[in-house]
Amino acid sequence: MQTMTLAAEPQHVRAAPSHPDPYPYYGRLARERPFFRDETNGWWVAASAAAVTAVLTSELCLTRPSSEPVPEALRDGAAAELFGRLVRLRDDEARGRLKAAVTAALRSIDLGQVADLTRRRAAELDSELGPTLDAASTTRFMFALPVQVVAQLLGLPHTRFGDAMGWLGDYGAAAAAAGTGIPTPTPELVTRGHRGAQALFDLVRAIKDDDTARGPLLGALVREARLAGCDDEKDVVANAIGYMIQGYAAMASLIGSTLLALARRPALRAEVDADRTLLRPLVQEVVRCDPVTNSTFRFMARDGEIAGHRLRQGEMIIVLLAAANRDPALNPEPDRFDIARTDRKYLEFGAGSHVCPADRFAVLVVEIAVDHLLTRGVPLERLESSLSYAASGHVRTPLFKA
Ligand code: HEM
Repeated sequence: MQTMTLAAEPQHVRAAPSHPDPYPYYGRLARERPFFRDETNGWWVAASAAAVTAVLTSELCLTRPSSEPVPEALRDGAAAELFGRLVRLRDDEARGRLKAAVTAALRSIDLGQVADLTRRRAAELDSELGPTLDAASTTRFMFALPVQVVAQLLGLPHTRFGDAMGWLGDYGAAAAAAGTGIPTPTPELVTRGHRGAQALFDLVRAIKDDDTARGPLLGALVREARLAGCDDEKDVVANAIGYMIQGYAAMASLIGSTLLALARRPALRAEVDADRTLLRPLVQEVVRCDPVTNSTFRFMARDGEIAGHRLRQGEMIIVLLAAANRDPALNPEPDRFDIARTDRKYLEFGAGSHVCPADRFAVLVVEIAVDHLLTRGVPLERLESSLSYAASGHVRTPLFKA
């Protein structure tokens, strides 16, 4: 791992995900500043495992401010409609039933089927991306494989995968910019986001309504939503798209960070080459040590007490999942990278009512992707020199460029 001096630490928590090594900073916050107010930026920060858990499980903490359920910068349009319907970003009463359907549908998919599909799609991508695997095509593979597995489970035809990835990228950039200000939500970015969201709505609705096209995941979501009493068709379509939105950058990033973990540890790489079953604990240790979702955020529904502090309605809390994973109260010797840990704990998939329903799914797809890339001779030794991190206030996404 690279080491940084204290002087080079990120200036604040939103600068950390794209920093070369934010972990000394995160570890220090988890140990020394478990829950504090950043007066300069006007937000609270939860950093210890106890504080992060307290925020994520508190009914006082909402995923969006009640005064602005959809960010103002998105304004009216399809991106606002999509944003406002996702279970990830709402806390209204109907959400509970919808979340149950989203979770049940995903869990009804056999992981053996997911593994077969992922291997098949990986082999197809080899011919689509060309014979040589360099840094840039490794990045393209990281982004393409996982989201295309989800897309195929929904029923998208292969011919629309490229379009769908473009639309997801446009929507995601607009939503992140509108929600966090990183990057700046320019009118052009927002317009592209609306167009992408509309195109995704049109495509997924058409598949949902076609018995011959619907894939197993979309079929299960329609069924589970009906059973749970969710009869709003747009909610169902939005949350089908939501599976792709949630998994897209996250799984790509975890593949990249796992490759980096191997590139930085030649002895571990040799062990994994000799025994691929070690990939499972390797990915799990990367989830703990170099996670994707560095942070999420919450807003106070009303005045109240969190982690022993009095907060006011509307105040924002940045919830540092990546710091909590480095809290010695969660894992002994948290800075030691050890794939043989026996009681590994992490908060990377969240906690409480918004917990990620796809932890096993995501880790499986990532494991198969890394296995495939290793077999294909991914140029591990060239990754570090081609590495940069995507601009983001919350997600840590390694990008390898030629
Ligand atoms: C490495 C991959 C992934 C990571 C690290 C991850 C992490 C997370 C986290 C931290 C949350 C909770 C956010 C919060 O409470 O503010 C979340 C929510 C969610 N994730 Fe994942 N996720 C991953 C992959 C996926 C995939 C592949 C899917 C779908 C196929 C998915 C579906 C969801 C959904 C639907 C939610 C919203 C749950 C709710 O708000 O009730 N995730 N994820």
